[in-house]
Formats: sequence, C-alpha cells, structure tokens
Amino acid sequence: MSIDWMARAVPQTAGLYPYVPGKPVETLLREKGLSRAVKLASNENPYGPSPKAITAMCNAAAGVHRYPDGDANALKVKLAALHHVSRDQVLLGNGSNEVLELIIRTFAGAGDEVVYSQRGFIVYALAAQAAGATGVPVAEADGRSHDLDAMAAAVNERTKLVCIANPNNPTGTLHSNIVIQSFLDRLPRNVVVIIDEAYYEFVADELGDSVHDLKHPGLMISRTFSKAYGLAGCRIGYAIADSRITALVNRYREPFNLNLLAQHAALAALDDRDWVMARVADTNAGREKLESALTEMGLSGGRCYGNFVLLRHAQSSEIVRRLEDHGMIARPLAPYGMADFLRISVGTAEENAEFLTVLTSVIESLSEQENAAS
Ligand SMILES: Cc1ncc(COP(=O)(O)O)c(C=O)c1O
Repeated sequence: MSIDWMARAVPQTAGLYPYVPGKPVETLLREKGLSRAVKLASNENPYGPSPKAITAMCNAAAGVHRYPDGDANALKVKLAALHHVSRDQVLLGNGSNEVLELIIRTFAGAGDEVVYSQRGFIVYALAAQAAGATGVPVAEADGRSHDLDAMAAAVNERTKLVCIANPNNPTGTLHSNIVIQSFLDRLPRNVVVIIDEAYYEFVADELGDSVHDLKHPGLMISRTFSKAYGLAGCRIGYAIADSRITALVNRYREPFNLNLLAQHAALAALDDRDWVMARVADTNAGREKLESALTEMGLSGGRCYGNFVLLRHAQSSEIVRRLEDHGMIARPLAPYGMADFLRISVGTAEENAEFLTVLTSVIESLSEQENAAS
C-alpha cells in the first residue's frame, strides 16, 4: 500500500503551494525553439551587478572550500555604518525572502494571526501558512493601495505580525512615510511590523530615510541586494530592527545562510553605491518612458513605484502568449487576483524599446482579429 505522505506532513502543508517565479529564459527558449529571449518578469536589474562586485566574487572564488563567516560580520558592520545603527540591529538572509520567512517563523505559529494586504507580496501569505499561523489578507481600498485603516482594524490580540511592502509588489503603489508612521502609531506596541522596502532605492528621494524616520518598537525594515544592486542570483537581503528582535530571529537562521561569494559581492557593491544609484536613475527613466508609452496606447495599469510597470488589458493572458512567441517574458498577475494585469519589469533602454515594438504589433494583431470576428 502506498504511504500517504501528506497525512504524515505537518497539517499546514495541505494548504501550501510553491511560489511561482517568473518564467526563466531557458524555459522559454526550450518551449518556443527560440535562440534569444528577454525576461521582464522578475523585477531584476538588467544592468547586472557593479563591476566591482563581479571582481570581488572572482577573487573570492578560490576560497569557497572554506565556510564563510557565519555571522557575516564585515557586511553587518558596513550596513550598520550605512544606516547609522549598531551591527546587532542588522539581520542578514539568503535574499530578503529568507529574512521575511525567518521573522514570520520566529513570531507566528498555530493560533497566531499575520495581517497583510490581499495584493501584497505573496511570500507573507506563504510564510504565514508554512508557520502554521493564520493569514489575514486585507482587501486594498481601490484594488491597488494598501487599505491601512482596514489593516489597522484587522489587528487584534491574536495578531503577531503585520507585513507591508512599500512600494508594493505587484501593485506598484507607494505610501509616504508620514502615512506609514500614522499607521504604525495605531498598532499595538508588541506587534512586529515588517516594512518591506525591496524597491527602496528606486524611491529613496520620495520616501526619505525610513530607518530613522519610522518609529515603532516592533519595526523591522527589510531591504534587498536583488533589485537596485543587481545581485538577485547571489541571494542577499537584510532587515534593520531592535537588536533584541534580531537576536531572536537569528536563533532560526541556518548557520551559513549568506554564502561566501554573496558576502564579498555585497561588500563590493556597497563600495560602488554611485554606480548602483546611476543604474537606478537609468531604470527610473526607463520606467517613466514605458509608463507614458503604455498610457498613450491606453494600456497603463497605473503609476508604479519600483522597477516595473503595469499593463492592463482584458486579454492579458493572450498578450503574454504572443509576447512569448516573440521572446518577451512578462509576468501575469492572475495569482494576485489581477487577471487583467501584466507586470513588466523595466529593462535596458534597448530592451524597453524592443518590448514596446513587439507589444504594439501584438495589440495590432489582437484588434485585427477582433475586427475580423465582429
Ligand atoms: C516586495 C518584495 N519583497 C521581497 C522580495 C524578495 O526578494 P529577494 O528575496 O530577492 O531579496 C521581492 C522580490 O521580488 C519583492 O518584490
């Protein structure tokens, strides 16, 4: 008789499903027999990492037979200096994804509630479920922006965590830190609040210095090297919080969660902030261009903050298919209940131009077909 492994797994496994990432280039090439594809589906940095980070990784490669510093002290010290906090306030993870999961696992278990937006970053829901906690999704006020009043109202004595991405992925909305602070002021002091700033560098001028401007005893601000720093493949993320909280979360951390190459890459990238911020400026300029082109075509899904834009069309899944025929990978947002929307990551100027050319011909072919059918 075959064993029912699901019955053997912890109960929350039944409701869990694996995170569905953007389609990898290799998969599309294989599926379509193409020789080239452009991925605009995972909000990666199309310019790559700082050349200094690449050199640092090459130099460090000969030492990978040794374990890395499990405490990643040099990186903690550098990040602490960047943010004017103490090194013990820095929590490091294998991507900010791991940071978020570790925090949620530390504070929430069976019987506890985790509050997040319905269209907030999907990992909060998955991590809460994996921890055996109860996720409390709160609908957005207008389908896009976090409804902070409703989120504050959803907090009760069972609430252990509140998670907010600012800017949010995938809806692209941004709240000012004044608005976020007034939300924090309404929350109980013993709740842990994750403000996920994975896209911070793209909005740093608008938002200001969240680490110092926002105040709440349970505040954990998370950031990543995956977006602006172009190090998504290295998996480096961090959070800044009260050192008593980071010490607790560290108990759940795997001993060498930040690998050797990642530590060297992150240190070098931090030494090359001007280069990184110049690429951020290029990306912001690319986003503006894409957004105005989509607006002109009547396809804009609204202003986005971060390194992506939203396209809105009733036939969005057909558009994805046809874009893929031309080697362009976009991200469908049906898993977020946004079936009409596609998320398009900002590419290089050339990739954005190519995308718009392909999109124009896809939209034309769709309307020709519609006209022929009517
Ligand atoms: C809002 C948000 N938070 C966190 C992450 C996780 O990023 P990483 O694990 O690469 O740091 C992402 C990735 O897309 C994101 O969009």
